Amino acid sequence: MRDALTLGAGSGGCAPNPLAFSGARVATIELKARPVETSIKCIILGFGNVGRSLFDLLEERNSWLKSNFGVEAKVVAVADRGGAAISQEGLSFHELLKVKHERRTVAAHPVHGEPKLKGSDVVKLVDADVLFELTVTDVATGEPGLSHILAAIDKGLHVITSNKGPLVAAFSKVIEKAQRRGILLRYTATVGGALRVLRYLSSCLAGEPILEIHGVLNGTSNYVLTKMEEGLTMEEAIKQAQQMGIAEEDPSLDIDGIDTACKMVILANTVFGNSFSLGDVEIKGIRHITSEQLSSAASQGQAIRLIGFTDGEKISVSPQRIPRNSPLCVYGTLNAVSMKTEKAGELVVTGPGAGPYETASTVYSDFVEIAEALCGGR
Ligand SMILES: NC(=O)c1ccc[n+]([C@@H]2O[C@H](COP(=O)([O-])OP(=O)(O)OC[C@H]3O[C@@H](n4cnc5c(N)ncnc54)[C@H](OP(=O)(O)O)[C@@H]3O)[C@@H](O)[C@H]2O)c1
Repeated sequence: MRDALTLGAGSGGCAPNPLAFSGARVATIELKARPVETSIKCIILGFGNVGRSLFDLLEERNSWLKSNFGVEAKVVAVADRGGAAISQEGLSFHELLKVKHERRTVAAHPVHGEPKLKGSDVVKLVDADVLFELTVTDVATGEPGLSHILAAIDKGLHVITSNKGPLVAAFSKVIEKAQRRGILLRYTATVGGALRVLRYLSSCLAGEPILEIHGVLNGTSNYVLTKMEEGLTMEEAIKQAQQMGIAEEDPSLDIDGIDTACKMVILANTVFGNSFSLGDVEIKGIRHITSEQLSSAASQGQAIRLIGFTDGEKISVSPQRIPRNSPLCVYGTLNAVSMKTEKAGELVVTGPGAGPYETASTVYSDFVEIAEALCGGR
């Protein structure tokens, strides 16, 4: 069992802070949570696309976890808007999925259901080691995720989230509180879904100064631009994205660049140790991009992509013309992030930026990091 870890501003691994050269805050913290013995007790707040996929993965990969770390994941509580299901003996994924499908809320579980119990109260009441915060995003207030995360930190639970809201609304507050309390906080899935770009920066680029980051980080905008290149109007492309379940009914957060800006705030604050907020970002979305502009770019071997940029001094989001053979010129819903470094050149990570299992897979990898920190490899 390790008793001390060094980590950057909530990102990265348990090795010496990988982001120090870039100015990220470094804190050597004592792990204060109780040691785990045979199981890591987990609370999942949010039983939507990511929450369900994550619970499925936790069950499916338990024998792998046991053989590598000597422990199993035990889901002791799950909550949605209707309340919670709680069992210290552990809940069953398939049982809970059935209840959710048939009765719309996990709180309708005939034995373990706790109708109307709020997420923060679940955290306070239930004996657990790790909170998965997988509820809806509100980047203005950070709620309900912010209250869930703060309650978990207060109680000494380690926290893993895919929810951008709390980190965009209150980055420094959350990170500093977690560091003060000796809590491991992981949020790799908030930026780029399956891409794990935060982990790449913290682990693979450990000790390497990061100079600039450019990212295509919004699948919906990229899908719309790609379809417009193929001849659809913006309205037709958005409608198609909505029919495929890629775009929200109101796609403005994506189309107007806000979602990309949120991800760039989290990236910049983590990598460069800043305290940027959304108001600090110069944002221009793709709403006014025309088919003529795309055709004109194509005739010169270029494409238009919505690019987030940061060098630690500023953050911007805007549609830009880039060469068709640029690694950032991805198609459909793919994401790509390019990292310009001092000595390692320019590196690019690309892949699915969203999707239930794609995102849950990243959340699970954060969990494996925490399991390793709590139990060590065996
Ligand atoms: N889906 C992706 O590809 C993806 C990728 C990266 C990041 N994310 C982020 O991951 C999070 C989850 O995404 P998702 O796709 O799973 O969303 P989702 O399908 O809309 O699920 C959200 C879940 O949160 C629950 N919830 C909402 N308010 C709650 C509250 N006050 N207390 C307890 N539960 C509450 C909802 O309950 P009900 O079921 O009762 O409505 C639902 O189960 C979001 O923050 C999202 O931005 C998602």
